[in-house]
Amino acid sequence: MIKRLLCIGAGYVGGPTMAVIAQHCPDVEVVVADINHDRVAAWQSGRPPIFEPGLEEVVRRSLGRNLRFTGDVEHEIGEAEMIFVSVNTPTKTFGQGAGRAADLQYWEKTARSILHHARRPVIVVEKSTLPVRTAEAMERIFKNRRQGQRFEVLSNPEFLAEGTAITDLESPDRVLIGGAETPAGQAAIDELVDIYARWVPRERILTANVWSAELSKLAANAFLAQRVSSINAISAICEQTGADILSVATAIGTDRRIGSQFLRAGVGFGGSCFQKDILNLVYLCEQHGLPEVARYWEAVVTLNQHQKERFVRRMIRVMFNTLAGKRIALFGFAFKANTGDTRESPAIQICQELLAEQAHVCITDPQALEGARQVFSASTDRVAFESDPYKAADGAHAVALLTDWAEYRALDYRRIYAAMERPAFLFDGRNQLDPEELYQIGFNVYAIGRPDRTSL
Ligand code: UDX
Ligand code: ADP
Repeated sequence: MIKRLLCIGAGYVGGPTMAVIAQHCPDVEVVVADINHDRVAAWQSGRPPIFEPGLEEVVRRSLGRNLRFTGDVEHEIGEAEMIFVSVNTPTKTFGQGAGRAADLQYWEKTARSILHHARRPVIVVEKSTLPVRTAEAMERIFKNRRQGQRFEVLSNPEFLAEGTAITDLESPDRVLIGGAETPAGQAAIDELVDIYARWVPRERILTANVWSAELSKLAANAFLAQRVSSINAISAICEQTGADILSVATAIGTDRRIGSQFLRAGVGFGGSCFQKDILNLVYLCEQHGLPEVARYWEAVVTLNQHQKERFVRRMIRVMFNTLAGKRIALFGFAFKANTGDTRESPAIQICQELLAEQAHVCITDPQALEGARQVFSASTDRVAFESDPYKAADGAHAVALLTDWAEYRALDYRRIYAAMERPAFLFDGRNQLDPEELYQIGFNVYAIGRPDRTSL
């Protein structure tokens, strides 16, 4: 049985995953190491550096008992029996494959560091989303091992979604573990199965070979993102023809073969995974001489871009073809509700396009204002940041709702309307509000894939 477990990378994946493992395995010492000392200090103080419902309680339950965060990555590698690698793998921004391939520099540094500092047989578990066949590359790095060193590489892709990370980890649809089809590979898989089996029913723990596990992660995210792009594509037709996307989504979602989830039309998907993983898949297809397959998946990302452009184009058109000098309040900047994460948030591109039209933008968000500041504060004086949505809308020509925070459904829109310029425009980019009610108040209402309600 594994008694000491290390996770390298204390981010959105590593932190919550290890906190849940520590909670269910009180007899296993769980250490999370990161090179970012501020992050480590925040975790170790019991105040996680990321916002995730329920996370703080889970961390505090094990902190000081069998969960600890540290900046001393190298020392901890020497002590660990099982090492999860959960470092960031963003899309490359330079050189070959820029904009598509994964940037593996953090991952490779970690692999080399494990090679140099491991002092006992180690099971290395890939947790970061990586291009298929990365485990093979890792194994090649480990081939340079010193005498007495032994490495077994597993792939254990993470399927948690931000905002529901703790419930996803507590009761996952499935846990997937990929390993080598050898006796040593099987033994390593069994060790990891034993950890998850403490709280996940056995039938939900799936095993596969490493390549299948790696590809499953990319495929799962590609399928999910494809559903969002599909419903958004239909929403564009609805806006042109007078159909209502909510009726269409309900009608198709009641077919059990299609299912009702992930059919919410909106301003497009964001987050650190969907676009990155699809671009990874596209790159993989191109590398393997499958250009038609590459184009198929690439279209999911293209449509997502188009959805954001379409949203701004509609704003410009209905606001008399000019946004110059107009104040626009953005309700929400996080890529989805219940997270402070702004990575690839649709709000970024929408805000950039509004600024290009010389609008004045006031951003509000319950958790992501700091993230928004990091993206925009230095670039222009036409962006303001405001924690109170009523103040953000004060004197605005338009409100654009971009994140599905429950808070925005509960606001007093009469009060908001009273403080806005006339005519007052409301663009509901997440179909969160009742257009009829807003129209009755006096707003011109434009929701995604729904008929316009123009008053004045
Ligand atoms: C996703 C996967 O769901 C998760 O399994 C994987 O491990 C990581 O990537 P995440 O990015 O946290 O998780 O959020 P998710 O809930 O999947 O939403 C992604 C984006 O799609 C968000 O911007 C969300 O607003 C958008 N979305 C989702 C829609 O626009 N409509 C929908 O119906 C569903
Ligand atoms: P994810 O969403 O995949 O968890 P994050 O960016 O939130 O990604 O977290 C990745 C973490 O990995 C960051 O906190 C970063 O500091 C850490 N990291 C990157 N490279 C290393 C490394 N070589 N050693 C330890 N931690 C690392």
